[in-house]
Amino acid sequence: MDWWAAANSLNDSRPRRSPAGRTPRLGILHVASEAEPWAKTGGLADVLGALPAALEALGHRVTTVLPLYRGAVLPGAERRPLSIRLGALTWQGSLHVLALSPGRRVVGVDVPEWFDRDGLYASGGHDYPDNAERFAGLAHAALDFAQQDLDGGRIDIVHAHDWQAGLVPALIRQQPARWTRVARAGLVMTIHNLAYQGLFPKEVVGRLGLGWDLFTVALGEFWDQFSYLKCGIASSDMVTTVSPTYARESTQPALGFGFDGVLRALGDRYVGILNGIDTTVWDPASDPRLPARYSALDLTGKQVNKRALLDRFGLPVGDDALARPVIGMVSRLVSQKGFDLMLDAADELMALDATWVVLGSGDAAYEARLQDLARRVPSRIGVHIGFDEGLAHLIEAGADVFLMPSRFEPCGLNQMYSLRYGTVPVVRAVGGLDDTVRPYRARARRANGFKFRDATPDALIRTIRQVLRVHKRPERWAALMREGMSDDHSWGPSAREYVKVYRQARYAAALRWAD
Ligand code: ADP
Ligand code: GLC
Repeated sequence: MDWWAAANSLNDSRPRRSPAGRTPRLGILHVASEAEPWAKTGGLADVLGALPAALEALGHRVTTVLPLYRGAVLPGAERRPLSIRLGALTWQGSLHVLALSPGRRVVGVDVPEWFDRDGLYASGGHDYPDNAERFAGLAHAALDFAQQDLDGGRIDIVHAHDWQAGLVPALIRQQPARWTRVARAGLVMTIHNLAYQGLFPKEVVGRLGLGWDLFTVALGEFWDQFSYLKCGIASSDMVTTVSPTYARESTQPALGFGFDGVLRALGDRYVGILNGIDTTVWDPASDPRLPARYSALDLTGKQVNKRALLDRFGLPVGDDALARPVIGMVSRLVSQKGFDLMLDAADELMALDATWVVLGSGDAAYEARLQDLARRVPSRIGVHIGFDEGLAHLIEAGADVFLMPSRFEPCGLNQMYSLRYGTVPVVRAVGGLDDTVRPYRARARRANGFKFRDATPDALIRTIRQVLRVHKRPERWAALMREGMSDDHSWGPSAREYVKVYRQARYAAALRWAD
């Protein structure tokens, strides 16, 4: 029996077909802690903002459940009451259900006690002490929603993202009789970053009434702590991560964060699918956030943006400054992103013929070192500490070069935004950065940027020197820009890869039930 027949014999005897007549439409439920435009700290939000629309474009029905944090609103949403019991305590709130288009809905989980706060996961550099409750609550809310959402159609796939949604597949496997509407769905878990594992003291298992059957080596136990991410990985039919190279790297001890063995054991149930980018939001030809729009055919607007960018950072804007390359960085300021390499090399880098602009927020130590650098060499580097979407777009458009010296990078989106904006990426050869940047070499065809391997300040300095040499050769530089601007990183191909994974997950779920 093929997967579809197998799945249908267990689920629903009426195979439904898309208007195209061939592929059956899938009902997909995403659960995540961020999604553009409602909540964002990093690339997870960009992915959840764009992937559902790409899946809808392939004919599928998609619902995304996420917390409704402070300030987020879903105008016109239908409200449904919500009551969540975890252990001895009960929380009250509501679900805000909004149809965005015929095939796409978003559901905001509104429990003010959990989500009406300054930050998403932390405040003042400290994780909220009740994150275990908050995201156990998200999982229960998503499952209760699915169970009661009788008018939303069948759910074929439940797709959980990162540790915050890790309990979703685990609870479905644990209590199929409670969540019957998703019990037979294919379960997919995507790891966006293994460094965040949702690790809590094991007492949460009892306190939140999660059931000690989840606290086993085969499920959520991780060195005597309880990991939401491990629960999700171990309970899912298919596990994905966000680039092919990171899928390989994460199965090795060096970048596996202790999960490499668990991931290796999945074999071909663990797959890397490169993220796409939202080409409607990130398009220099139509970006409303830019002072001037431009395209590969006419780059004059890029120079206008460069001047606006320098001006915005209070940097010199004379002819000399405009001729000098601007190197941009936009990032969470955490050790993953390799800021220490840049800061340790700062004296030499600031002496080179380039101007630097940095936008970021995160660890107080990096914030302070960057601000200190900007005070010491104010004519060469501008630093803005904070989260500013508009400024991120201006940097992508106005800079000549975009630097990502990451120690590890599951995918990385900014290098792809940079390519599309004609801003040449300089990256460490890791994860998705390695998969998307083709390095410049003499006579290399199709190069679109620069890469270095060693995580050392020296390797970074050498590469930036090479970048500045090539920048002085206008034809070579223009070829790099052109090449990057013609790369296609739209979501379509990656969404198709997800659909393949969904079909495998459905098949695996059907086999589970047949056993
Ligand atoms: P990560 O998810 O690890 O932070 P990604 O490269 O996948 O890295 O995605 C980061 C996303 O967050 C990008 O859209 C980037 O522009 C955005 N971003 C990061 N820091 C800031 C900031 N300080 N201000 C505005 N946008 C930011
Ligand atoms: C994570 C990773 C980043 C990836 C993003 C979206 O935050 O750090 O590399 O692009 O998720 O998948």
